Amino acid sequence: MKLIKDLELGFADAENYKRRENKDFLNKVFIKNTHLDELCDSHIYFLIGEKGTGKTAYSIFLTNNNYKNTVSSIRYVRETEYQKFISLKREKHLSVSDYSSIWKVILYLLISKQVFEREGTISKLLNYSKFNALNSAIDEYYLQAFSPEIIQALSFVQESKLAAELLSKHAKLKGEEKEALTFSESRFQINLFYIQRHFESALSQIRLKQNNILFIDGIDIRPSSIPYEEYLECIKGLANAVWEINNDFFPSVKGGQGRMRVVLLIRPDIFESIGLQNQNTKIRDNAVFLDWRTEYDVHRESQLFEVVDHMLAVQQQSTLPKGVAWDYYFPWDSPSFFEQSHSTPTSFIYFLRWSYYRPRDIVTMLKLLQENASALPDKERFTIDDFENTHFQREYSNYLLGEVKDHLSFYYGSDHYDIFLKFFEFLSGKNKFNYNFYTSAYDKLMLHITSISASQPKFMATANDFLQFLFDLNIICYTEQAEDHKPFFQWCFRIRSYANISPKVKTNVEYQIFYGLAKALNVGKKLKPKR
Ligand SMILES: Nc1ncnc2c1ncn2[C@@H]1O[C@H](COP(=O)(O)OP(=O)(O)O)[C@@H](O)[C@H]1O
Ligand SMILES: [Mg+2]
Repeated sequence: MKLIKDLELGFADAENYKRRENKDFLNKVFIKNTHLDELCDSHIYFLIGEKGTGKTAYSIFLTNNNYKNTVSSIRYVRETEYQKFISLKREKHLSVSDYSSIWKVILYLLISKQVFEREGTISKLLNYSKFNALNSAIDEYYLQAFSPEIIQALSFVQESKLAAELLSKHAKLKGEEKEALTFSESRFQINLFYIQRHFESALSQIRLKQNNILFIDGIDIRPSSIPYEEYLECIKGLANAVWEINNDFFPSVKGGQGRMRVVLLIRPDIFESIGLQNQNTKIRDNAVFLDWRTEYDVHRESQLFEVVDHMLAVQQQSTLPKGVAWDYYFPWDSPSFFEQSHSTPTSFIYFLRWSYYRPRDIVTMLKLLQENASALPDKERFTIDDFENTHFQREYSNYLLGEVKDHLSFYYGSDHYDIFLKFFEFLSGKNKFNYNFYTSAYDKLMLHITSISASQPKFMATANDFLQFLFDLNIICYTEQAEDHKPFFQWCFRIRSYANISPKVKTNVEYQIFYGLAKALNVGKKLKPKR
């Protein structure tokens, strides 16, 4: 077996697997499970999952491989693109429904180019005269140098007059239109509509051999320079466009074996904020929800265990049966898990207890444990002391808090984050508390906000709002008494499902802060009273 220092643990953020040199590693470690097969179903338009559950990993795996006759590509929405959208909105006095029309054209343009490049039989596609004319227009616009990025596609929209005229000109050249039309700079919406129609008629003409998916990623984190309202409008437009072209347009394209599809990668809370109509039906019928939940006593059968065990196993010299690699590196039992005797070590339960059941959490723990062991080059296995090491736990706790910060940044700025952190000081070091204790800490926080003349963040509007907020972020759970009088811990991430995408917290019960976060938030040990 490899020494600890030689283990390859990959990346906690799958974006790194896009780079050519890391592709093979992802192919080696990736677990092809039911989520992947579902994703290849033609009625899936949204890939929903909390941060770190593998949204990017799934889309990159499909981008790097032709799986189930499906070719894919992935595009990220970045800060510059949002900025461009916002300036376009000002310049052309746009509304939210215009946003969605703009996104439609961008998505059509990107998928047309993808189909053109990936279908393999380029010459065949050019037999479709409308598609051929469309391509010539795009080529002329970009001087044959279109690089398939959202920002580039956006410029096609921005110069809608020129784009529409080129489409019309090439349609005439190919005999598809009687005469070349002219367009006016000032009638943006009309130009856009013409462009959209043009894409639709060209795309309905072609017959594909393979399925084509265009993944859109990068909307989980709001860049700090983009105000929340504007950001939300922009991604609302995107989500609506994704819905409409998948639901109204692509299914109307008949013939051929291949289908086209756009899939948006999105966090459950953001999906909720976007407020699509019939959201629940859409989650059930048109989304894959990445869900890694398992129970302690069946954890060895879980996909989460498989992901990590497999990663450790594939890099050894010979192929190992399931569980062998894990048991080699972590040959100890999880403390306080006495309920039944196990034939194999229960160390993985300890990892579960410290995680939100997200692959990123476990991969991060492994990477930090490896780093911590770097002073011991001959080290072969991890001990429970390595796991209980204060330095390791603090670093892991900081990682979790960083994830919370990213999550929060979607809604709020950094000043609000500081106020949020302040709350934990008012818990006087407690990691378990009841409702009364909670409300008194909340009151102290309100006094603090007044004393520094800060504005009160919306998520703190009332004590119960903030409680719900802490619950949504999985910072606290509430506890209930089970029949055997043992406390029963209710976590948002454990309750959340297709049917209940935003579980509600209970008031007037007991609460507990997440183990993994306690260190970074300085709770879980009694603080000495200040003198
Ligand atoms: N099916 C899988 N097989 C192997 N590793 C996975 C799988 N799904 C997720 N991972 C790993 O989980 C980690 C987090 O995934 P990522 O795609 O970055 O999350 P997200 O985009 O949802 O925030 C990555 O290290 C990724 O390689
Ligand atoms: Mg991601």
